[in-house]
Amino acid sequence: MTAKAKIIGSGFYVPPKILTNADLEKMVDTTDEWIMSRSGIKERHVCDDKTTTADLAEAAARLALKAANVNSDYLDLILVATTTPDSLFPSVGCILQNRLAVRRIPSFDISAACSGFNFALATAAAFVESGQYSNILVVGADTLTKYVDWTDRGTCVLFGDGAGAVVVSASNGDGDGILANYLGARGEGGKHLVMPLKNGFITMNGKEVFKFAVSALEESVTEVLKKANLKLEDMDLLIPHQANIRIINHVAKKLGLPKEKIFVNLDRYGNTSAASIPIAFNEAYNGGRIKKGDKVVLSGFGAGLTYGANVIKF
Ligand code: COA
Repeated sequence: MTAKAKIIGSGFYVPPKILTNADLEKMVDTTDEWIMSRSGIKERHVCDDKTTTADLAEAAARLALKAANVNSDYLDLILVATTTPDSLFPSVGCILQNRLAVRRIPSFDISAACSGFNFALATAAAFVESGQYSNILVVGADTLTKYVDWTDRGTCVLFGDGAGAVVVSASNGDGDGILANYLGARGEGGKHLVMPLKNGFITMNGKEVFKFAVSALEESVTEVLKKANLKLEDMDLLIPHQANIRIINHVAKKLGLPKEKIFVNLDRYGNTSAASIPIAFNEAYNGGRIKKGDKVVLSGFGAGLTYGANVIKF
């Protein structure tokens, strides 16, 4: 039997500084009412100038290793999903490998914006299933607020910083672990959400990204369940990318999903890009929302345009 990749521990970290909608009201022409009604976001955590993506990734990684009750010697690969690396090179993955003082194991970054964690988790699962690596640290970490134009009210209210991590291990158990993934890209829509390499800020066509997000979330949830031979009713919990409550509500309505089956914490973190799903997963798991035997779908969408989902049996 082929081994499956199983999550054996997780952790997350957000910088301590909180930026509320009331704070934003003093910075740009906006209101708490507008931000809440258009996005559902109340506050977000933001880095100071000295804190790097690798700092957040390291803090989350150490907590995940602790929760998994293993030390870094146990790992044979590190994958970091990020689109806000601290330098073009070295990668955040290599900075993390050095800081965690593991053996000379391979480590690399995966660039798929807000879908990055799902791409990294699917990559980890493929390595485990092929037998090449058995114990993999998968991190989603981003500091998008460093790339936001704080005078652009259309984008600056949406984003936050953070990191989430999981340790994935080979399991020959009772069919639990990552059952299937579904990944996609619509490169033709890349122009709608752009962060140029030099001297720029995030620019976004909000309406186009919104339409894409609704269709990508619906497609990835439907298709990943199909790949795992599951029906929508078999899904116990959906953990969608935490970008905007209206995107989530649209998809819930289209799929006929009850609110209790969807985990939401974007009100407290905003859109933390590749960190959003692992942060939400941590809170769902630690909050008792995931029980033994549950089937959970993680589904993300973002710049690229990219989208992807994993279905996991616990
Ligand atoms: N406060 C107050 N008014 C604002 C505002 C803010 N923070 N941001 C924009 N507005 C204004 C606009 O200027 C516009 O005013 P106008 O009609 O006088 O020109 C009005 O609100 C409507 O703007 P619009 O862009 O049409 O709003 P919207 O309903 O499309 O909502 C988003 C904007 C960004 C919330 C929405 O498009 C969205 O969530 N898109 C997806 C974004 C996303 O999730 N990106 C990340 C994906 S990973």
